[in-house]
Amino acid sequence: MSENLYHKLQVLESEEHPLDRTSRLTAIQGPLLDWYRKHARILPWREEPSPYRVWISEIMLQQTRVEAVKPYFARFVEALPDAEALAAVPDDRLLKLWEGLGYYSRAKNLKKAAGILVNEYGGRLPDTKEELLSLPGIGNYTAGAIASIAYGKPEPAVDGNVLRVLARLLACRDDISGQAVKRRFESDLSAVMPKEDCGAFNQGLIEIGALLCIPGGEPRCGECPLRSLCLAARNGLTGEIPFKAPKKPRRIEERTILLIEAGDRIALRKRPEKGLLASMYEFPGLEGKYSQEEALAAAEALFCSEGENIRSAASAPDAVHIFSHVEWHMTGYRLEADRIPACFLAVPRREISKKYALPSAFDRYIKFINGKS
Ligand code: ADE
Ligand code: SF4
Repeated sequence: MSENLYHKLQVLESEEHPLDRTSRLTAIQGPLLDWYRKHARILPWREEPSPYRVWISEIMLQQTRVEAVKPYFARFVEALPDAEALAAVPDDRLLKLWEGLGYYSRAKNLKKAAGILVNEYGGRLPDTKEELLSLPGIGNYTAGAIASIAYGKPEPAVDGNVLRVLARLLACRDDISGQAVKRRFESDLSAVMPKEDCGAFNQGLIEIGALLCIPGGEPRCGECPLRSLCLAARNGLTGEIPFKAPKKPRRIEERTILLIEAGDRIALRKRPEKGLLASMYEFPGLEGKYSQEEALAAAEALFCSEGENIRSAASAPDAVHIFSHVEWHMTGYRLEADRIPACFLAVPRREISKKYALPSAFDRYIKFINGKS
């Protein structure tokens, strides 16, 4: 039916009689599903779309590229194959499995939600959007993705890819970084979800956004199954649409990173339980940019108790790390002590990357202490 409808609508669309939004979105179904069946990438969570695997993959994919997610996904579902295992995993091990993916609150919310699944849902993900939405870390997009991909429910799943494709398809010039456009597209799509293959429909839109209707750079309209229905392609607007209002600039934080070493051991500490990189391990640091002498004096004053001292200081590299709302501009020093001050963990150098989840903000320093720079 969708194929017929598509041809009919193509015939009917003309300059005098353009399609309305709903008809245009209905008309994409046939070509979109056909294209997805032929061109979808083979991805581990698509091969076996159990609710648990879809959930984990969608959370990982929220802020991370598909290629980067693949190895993490494989490791994660191997180590923690179900909600019971996830609910019971120690935090350090969880963070270690997540290390490098960033946005660690995603991992913590996964564990919290798994606890609820075990206690209230027999260890399974619920199949309604409302129940899914009640779980920590699951918003409209993820609830729609799980409901449609794992359970075949006719729920839309509008992520950044889908926003871009629909804004172009409908020649919508509104700011897609706000919530308003997203809500409108969700409600538009709700009205036209196919009766079957809802997971393929949603993933088809995502896939077009990832492979053809790409951000930054020319979309590949020549290969796009939606081309004949796409108002941006037809009117030469793909350079202007989607429109995103400029973001406000990130706050810059100066930090001084202290690599405090004694023999083959190095000082680590755990970050506070709240805020940026909560509960992750890190090299000790000071807020602000210190000179070498200032850093040495501050470290002794702040971290050394009776009988502990720091012998000498040397420079270590500078580094920049960009988070979503903050930039760390780091100045590094290597401090040598007779022993690691007792307020820190004294970790053998070779165990740092093996045992402790150090955020990638510190990659430059890990490389440095391992003598690779
Ligand atoms: N990005 C978000 N969800 C995705 C999915 N299911 N497949 C590929 N990329 C995605
Ligand atoms: Fe995007 Fe071009 Fe396809 Fe339109 S035709 S949805 S602009 S890739």
